Amino acid sequence: MLAAKKSTPFFQKLQHQVMSFLYQNDLSKLLPLYSSKWNPHLFGQHYQEHFAPLKNQKLKILEIGVGGYDDPYSGGDSLRMWKQYFPKSMIYGIDIVNKKALEEDRIKIFQGSQDDELFLKNVVAETGKFDIIIDDGSHRNDHVIKTFKILFPELNDGGIYVVEDTHTSYIPSYDNWSKFSSNDVAPHWAEYGGSLDLYDQKTMMNFFKRLVDCLSHQEFIHPEYTPNYFDKHIVGIHFYRNQIFIHKGDNTAPGNVVENNILRPEFLQEIGIKSLTELNLEFPTIDDPTRL
Ligand SMILES: C[S@@+](CC[C@H](N)C(=O)[O-])C[C@H]1O[C@@H](n2cnc3c(N)ncnc32)[C@H](O)[C@@H]1O
Repeated sequence: MLAAKKSTPFFQKLQHQVMSFLYQNDLSKLLPLYSSKWNPHLFGQHYQEHFAPLKNQKLKILEIGVGGYDDPYSGGDSLRMWKQYFPKSMIYGIDIVNKKALEEDRIKIFQGSQDDELFLKNVVAETGKFDIIIDDGSHRNDHVIKTFKILFPELNDGGIYVVEDTHTSYIPSYDNWSKFSSNDVAPHWAEYGGSLDLYDQKTMMNFFKRLVDCLSHQEFIHPEYTPNYFDKHIVGIHFYRNQIFIHKGDNTAPGNVVENNILRPEFLQEIGIKSLTELNLEFPTIDDPTRL
Protein backbone atom coordinates (compact mmCIF):
# COMPACT_ATOMS: atom_id res chain seq x y z
CA MET A 1 0.00 0.00 0.00
CA LEU A 2 1.27 3.46 -0.87
CA ALA A 3 1.80 5.78 2.10
CA ALA A 4 -0.04 9.12 1.68
CA LYS A 5 2.56 11.79 0.99
CA LYS A 6 2.28 14.88 3.23
CA SER A 7 2.13 18.09 1.19
CA THR A 8 4.95 20.56 1.82
CA PRO A 9 4.28 24.06 3.20
CA PHE A 10 5.12 25.42 -0.25
CA PHE A 11 2.52 23.19 -1.89
CA GLN A 12 -0.06 24.03 0.79
CA LYS A 13 0.49 27.75 0.19
CA LEU A 14 0.18 27.30 -3.55
CA GLN A 15 -2.98 25.24 -3.13
CA HIS A 16 -4.46 27.95 -0.84
CA GLN A 17 -3.64 30.66 -3.39
CA VAL A 18 -5.23 28.71 -6.24
CA MET A 19 -8.36 27.86 -4.22
CA SER A 20 -8.81 31.41 -2.94
CA PHE A 21 -8.46 32.70 -6.50
CA LEU A 22 -11.10 30.22 -7.72
CA TYR A 23 -13.48 31.07 -4.84
CA GLN A 24 -12.84 34.82 -4.78
CA ASN A 25 -16.44 35.65 -5.76
CA ASP A 26 -18.17 33.47 -3.20
CA LEU A 27 -17.77 34.06 0.53
CA SER A 28 -19.57 30.83 1.37
CA LYS A 29 -16.54 29.01 -0.11
CA LEU A 30 -13.86 31.60 0.65
CA LEU A 31 -14.62 31.81 4.37
CA PRO A 32 -13.85 28.15 5.14
CA LEU A 33 -10.48 28.58 3.36
CA TYR A 34 -9.29 31.48 5.49
CA SER A 35 -11.11 31.83 8.65
CA SER A 36 -11.20 30.58 12.18
CA LYS A 37 -14.82 31.73 12.46
CA TRP A 38 -17.61 29.59 13.91
CA ASN A 39 -19.44 27.53 11.28
CA PRO A 40 -17.78 29.12 8.21
CA HIS A 41 -20.39 27.72 5.83
CA LEU A 42 -23.29 29.29 7.67
CA PHE A 43 -21.54 32.63 8.29
CA GLY A 44 -20.13 32.62 4.75
CA GLN A 45 -23.52 32.11 3.16
CA HIS A 46 -24.96 35.17 4.97
CA TYR A 47 -21.88 37.27 4.25
CA GLN A 48 -22.19 36.41 0.57
CA GLU A 49 -25.85 37.42 0.50
CA HIS A 50 -25.25 40.81 2.16
CA PHE A 51 -21.82 41.72 0.80
CA ALA A 52 -22.05 40.58 -2.85
CA PRO A 53 -23.68 43.86 -4.05
CA LEU A 54 -20.76 45.83 -2.55
CA LYS A 55 -17.95 43.55 -3.74
CA ASN A 56 -16.42 45.72 -6.46
CA GLN A 57 -16.84 49.08 -4.76
CA LYS A 58 -14.03 51.04 -3.17
CA LEU A 59 -14.85 50.62 0.50
CA LYS A 60 -13.41 51.07 3.96
CA ILE A 61 -13.91 47.90 5.96
CA LEU A 62 -13.19 47.53 9.66
CA GLU A 63 -13.02 44.24 11.55
CA ILE A 64 -12.74 44.30 15.33
CA GLY A 65 -10.73 41.24 16.43
CA VAL A 66 -7.77 40.32 14.24
CA GLY A 67 -7.36 36.84 15.74
CA GLY A 68 -4.41 34.98 17.21
CA TYR A 69 -5.06 36.42 20.71
CA ASP A 70 -1.85 36.98 22.70
CA ASP A 71 0.51 36.06 19.87
CA PRO A 72 1.41 39.27 17.97
CA TYR A 73 2.43 37.27 14.90
CA SER A 74 -0.66 35.08 14.70
CA GLY A 75 -4.12 35.93 13.25
CA GLY A 76 -5.26 38.13 10.38
CA ASP A 77 -7.03 35.33 8.45
CA SER A 78 -10.29 37.20 8.03
CA LEU A 79 -8.53 40.49 7.17
CA ARG A 80 -6.72 38.70 4.32
CA MET A 81 -10.00 37.11 3.24
CA TRP A 82 -11.77 40.50 3.03
CA LYS A 83 -8.79 41.81 1.06
CA GLN A 84 -9.19 38.95 -1.42
CA TYR A 85 -12.97 39.35 -1.72
CA PHE A 86 -13.06 43.18 -1.96
CA PRO A 87 -10.35 43.93 -4.54
CA LYS A 88 -10.68 47.74 -4.38
CA SER A 89 -11.17 48.16 -0.64
CA MET A 90 -9.02 49.14 2.29
CA ILE A 91 -9.19 46.71 5.22
CA TYR A 92 -8.70 47.90 8.80
CA GLY A 93 -8.33 45.73 11.89
CA ILE A 94 -8.53 46.47 15.61
CA ASP A 95 -7.15 44.20 18.30
CA ILE A 96 -6.29 44.62 21.96
CA VAL A 97 -2.96 42.95 21.18
CA ASN A 98 -0.39 44.64 18.93
CA LYS A 99 -0.87 42.96 15.53
CA LYS A 100 1.13 45.47 13.46
CA ALA A 101 3.33 42.60 12.20
CA LEU A 102 0.35 41.36 10.16
CA GLU A 103 -0.08 44.59 8.20
CA GLU A 104 0.34 44.43 4.42
CA ASP A 105 -0.73 46.36 1.35
CA ARG A 106 -4.43 47.37 1.89
CA ILE A 107 -4.42 46.02 5.48
CA LYS A 108 -3.86 48.41 8.40
CA ILE A 109 -4.16 47.41 12.06
CA PHE A 110 -4.72 49.49 15.21
CA GLN A 111 -4.06 48.34 18.75
CA GLY A 112 -6.64 49.13 21.43
CA SER A 113 -9.77 47.93 23.16
CA GLN A 114 -13.15 48.04 21.49
CA ASP A 115 -14.73 49.51 24.62
CA ASP A 116 -12.35 52.49 24.67
CA GLU A 117 -14.32 55.37 23.16
CA LEU A 118 -11.35 57.70 22.75
CA PHE A 119 -9.32 55.01 20.99
CA LEU A 120 -12.20 54.28 18.56
CA LYS A 121 -12.69 57.99 17.86
CA ASN A 122 -8.97 58.36 17.15
CA VAL A 123 -9.11 55.43 14.72
CA VAL A 124 -12.02 57.04 12.84
CA ALA A 125 -10.21 60.40 12.82
CA GLU A 126 -7.38 58.65 10.94
CA THR A 127 -9.41 56.38 8.63
CA GLY A 128 -12.63 58.32 7.99
CA LYS A 129 -16.05 56.66 8.13
CA PHE A 130 -16.47 52.99 7.27
CA ASP A 131 -18.75 51.16 4.82
CA ILE A 132 -18.66 47.83 6.64
CA ILE A 133 -17.91 47.14 10.31
CA ILE A 134 -17.61 43.59 11.67
CA ASP A 135 -17.44 42.98 15.42
CA ASP A 136 -15.56 39.73 16.05
CA GLY A 137 -13.60 40.98 19.07
CA SER A 138 -14.04 40.30 22.79
CA HIS A 139 -17.66 39.06 22.38
CA ARG A 140 -18.43 40.55 25.78
CA ASN A 141 -22.03 41.73 25.85
CA ASP A 142 -21.22 45.13 27.38
CA HIS A 143 -18.38 45.70 24.87
CA VAL A 144 -20.46 44.74 21.82
CA ILE A 145 -23.28 47.11 22.84
CA LYS A 146 -20.93 50.00 23.67
CA THR A 147 -18.91 49.55 20.48
CA PHE A 148 -22.09 49.60 18.38
CA LYS A 149 -23.27 52.82 20.07
CA ILE A 150 -19.93 54.48 19.30
CA LEU A 151 -19.27 53.10 15.82
CA PHE A 152 -22.70 52.85 14.16
CA PRO A 153 -22.70 56.68 13.67
CA GLU A 154 -19.30 56.22 11.98
CA LEU A 155 -20.78 54.03 9.25
CA ASN A 156 -21.60 55.60 5.87
CA ASP A 157 -25.17 55.50 4.54
CA GLY A 158 -25.67 52.22 2.70
CA GLY A 159 -23.19 50.62 5.11
CA ILE A 160 -23.54 47.36 7.01
CA TYR A 161 -22.64 46.61 10.65
CA VAL A 162 -22.19 42.93 11.54
CA VAL A 163 -22.01 41.33 14.97
CA GLU A 164 -20.66 37.79 15.18
CA ASP A 165 -20.93 35.16 17.90
CA THR A 166 -24.06 36.49 19.56
CA HIS A 167 -24.32 33.19 21.44
CA THR A 168 -22.40 34.81 24.31
CA SER A 169 -25.76 36.39 25.20
CA TYR A 170 -26.81 33.03 26.60
CA ILE A 171 -23.71 32.12 28.62
CA PRO A 172 -24.24 32.78 32.34
CA SER A 173 -22.02 35.50 33.74
CA TYR A 174 -20.50 36.19 37.16
CA ASP A 175 -23.56 38.08 38.37
CA ASN A 176 -25.90 35.17 37.67
CA TRP A 177 -23.35 32.37 38.07
CA SER A 178 -24.80 31.06 41.34
CA LYS A 179 -28.07 30.27 39.54
CA PHE A 180 -26.09 28.06 37.19
CA SER A 181 -23.50 26.29 39.27
CA SER A 182 -22.72 25.77 42.95
CA ASN A 183 -19.03 25.87 42.10
CA ASP A 184 -17.76 29.26 43.32
CA VAL A 185 -15.01 29.40 40.74
CA ALA A 186 -16.58 30.60 37.49
CA PRO A 187 -14.63 29.90 34.29
CA HIS A 188 -13.32 32.70 32.06
CA TRP A 189 -16.36 32.56 29.79
CA ALA A 190 -18.46 33.98 32.62
CA GLU A 191 -16.75 37.28 31.63
CA TYR A 192 -18.90 37.51 28.49
CA GLY A 193 -21.72 38.92 30.59
CA GLY A 194 -24.52 36.78 29.17
CA SER A 195 -27.52 35.44 31.01
CA LEU A 196 -29.78 32.44 31.40
CA ASP A 197 -32.70 34.89 31.31
CA LEU A 198 -33.78 35.42 27.68
CA TYR A 199 -35.11 38.89 28.58
CA ASP A 200 -32.09 40.09 30.54
CA GLN A 201 -31.65 43.70 29.37
CA LYS A 202 -27.86 43.53 29.69
CA THR A 203 -27.41 41.09 26.83
CA MET A 204 -26.56 42.06 23.27
CA MET A 205 -29.45 39.99 21.93
CA ASN A 206 -31.92 42.10 23.91
CA PHE A 207 -30.18 45.28 22.82
CA PHE A 208 -30.43 44.37 19.13
CA LYS A 209 -33.98 43.05 19.52
CA ARG A 210 -34.88 46.48 20.98
CA LEU A 211 -33.48 48.14 17.84
CA VAL A 212 -36.07 46.32 15.71
CA ASP A 213 -38.60 48.87 17.05
CA CYS A 214 -36.41 51.69 15.68
CA LEU A 215 -37.39 50.54 12.20
CA SER A 216 -41.00 51.49 12.97
CA HIS A 217 -40.46 54.69 14.99
CA GLN A 218 -42.52 56.69 12.49
CA GLU A 219 -45.48 54.48 13.31
CA PHE A 220 -45.41 55.11 17.11
CA ILE A 221 -48.48 57.03 18.31
CA HIS A 222 -46.66 59.18 20.86
CA PRO A 223 -46.93 62.98 20.48
CA GLU A 224 -43.91 63.72 22.69
CA TYR A 225 -41.61 61.26 20.99
CA THR A 226 -38.28 62.51 19.59
CA PRO A 227 -36.68 60.04 17.18
CA ASN A 228 -33.14 59.01 18.16
CA TYR A 229 -30.13 58.39 15.89
CA PHE A 230 -30.84 54.66 15.52
CA ASP A 231 -34.50 55.37 14.68
CA LYS A 232 -33.44 57.67 11.86
CA HIS A 233 -30.61 55.57 10.45
CA ILE A 234 -31.39 51.85 10.80
CA VAL A 235 -33.14 50.53 7.69
CA GLY A 236 -32.80 46.78 8.20
CA ILE A 237 -31.84 44.23 10.86
CA HIS A 238 -31.27 40.61 9.92
CA PHE A 239 -30.91 38.03 12.68
CA TYR A 240 -29.24 34.70 11.87
CA ARG A 241 -27.79 32.00 14.05
CA ASN A 242 -25.02 33.76 16.03
CA GLN A 243 -24.77 36.62 13.52
CA ILE A 244 -26.64 39.94 13.08
CA PHE A 245 -26.51 42.36 10.12
CA ILE A 246 -27.66 45.96 10.66
CA HIS A 247 -28.11 48.07 7.52
CA LYS A 248 -27.76 51.86 7.60
CA GLY A 249 -29.69 54.39 5.52
CA ASP A 250 -32.45 56.98 5.72
CA ASN A 251 -35.37 55.80 7.85
CA THR A 252 -37.28 59.08 8.07
CA ALA A 253 -40.11 58.43 5.60
CA PRO A 254 -43.45 59.38 7.17
CA GLY A 255 -45.59 56.67 8.73
CA ASN A 256 -48.65 55.04 7.36
CA VAL A 257 -51.44 56.16 9.69
CA VAL A 258 -49.15 58.42 11.69
CA GLU A 259 -47.12 61.54 10.90
CA ASN A 260 -44.68 63.08 13.40
CA ASN A 261 -45.94 60.48 15.87
CA ILE A 262 -49.49 61.86 15.74
CA LEU A 263 -52.43 60.14 14.06
CA ARG A 264 -53.19 61.73 10.68
CA PRO A 265 -56.32 63.99 10.69
CA GLU A 266 -58.38 61.52 8.65
CA PHE A 267 -57.79 58.83 11.28
CA LEU A 268 -58.56 61.21 14.16
CA GLN A 269 -61.75 62.10 12.34
CA GLU A 270 -62.64 58.41 12.06
CA ILE A 271 -62.69 58.14 15.85
CA GLY A 272 -64.56 61.44 16.18
CA ILE A 273 -61.81 63.68 17.63
CA LYS A 274 -59.72 66.61 16.37
CA SER A 275 -56.67 66.06 18.56
CA LEU A 276 -55.19 63.22 20.60
CA THR A 277 -55.18 65.46 23.70
CA GLU A 278 -58.97 65.00 23.84
CA LEU A 279 -58.35 61.39 24.87
CA ASN A 280 -56.25 62.38 27.93
CA LEU A 281 -53.91 59.50 27.29
CA GLU A 282 -50.72 58.86 29.23
CA PHE A 283 -47.97 57.76 26.91
CA PRO A 284 -45.29 55.40 28.23
CA THR A 285 -41.70 56.56 28.49
CA ILE A 286 -39.60 55.13 25.68
CA ASP A 287 -35.96 54.45 26.51
CA ASP A 288 -33.15 55.91 24.42
CA PRO A 289 -31.02 52.97 23.15
CA THR A 290 -28.30 55.32 21.85
CA ARG A 291 -27.27 56.43 25.36
CA LEU A 292 -23.78 55.21 26.30
C1 LIG B 1 -12.26 35.50 17.56
S1 LIG B 1 -10.74 36.31 17.46
C2 LIG B 1 -10.88 37.15 15.91
C3 LIG B 1 -10.81 36.22 14.73
C4 LIG B 1 -10.73 36.89 13.39
N1 LIG B 1 -11.70 37.96 13.24
C5 LIG B 1 -10.96 35.86 12.28
O1 LIG B 1 -12.14 35.67 11.90
O2 LIG B 1 -10.00 35.26 11.84
C6 LIG B 1 -10.93 37.58 18.64
C7 LIG B 1 -9.79 38.59 18.73
O3 LIG B 1 -10.29 39.70 19.49
C8 LIG B 1 -9.24 40.22 20.28
N2 LIG B 1 -9.84 40.95 21.43
C9 LIG B 1 -10.20 40.46 22.64
N3 LIG B 1 -10.67 41.44 23.42
C10 LIG B 1 -10.62 42.58 22.70
C11 LIG B 1 -10.98 43.94 22.96
N4 LIG B 1 -11.47 44.33 24.15
N5 LIG B 1 -10.80 44.85 21.97
C12 LIG B 1 -10.28 44.49 20.76
N6 LIG B 1 -9.92 43.21 20.47
C13 LIG B 1 -10.10 42.27 21.41
C14 LIG B 1 -8.41 39.01 20.68
O4 LIG B 1 -7.08 39.39 20.97
C15 LIG B 1 -8.55 38.11 19.44
O5 LIG B 1 -7.41 38.23 18.61
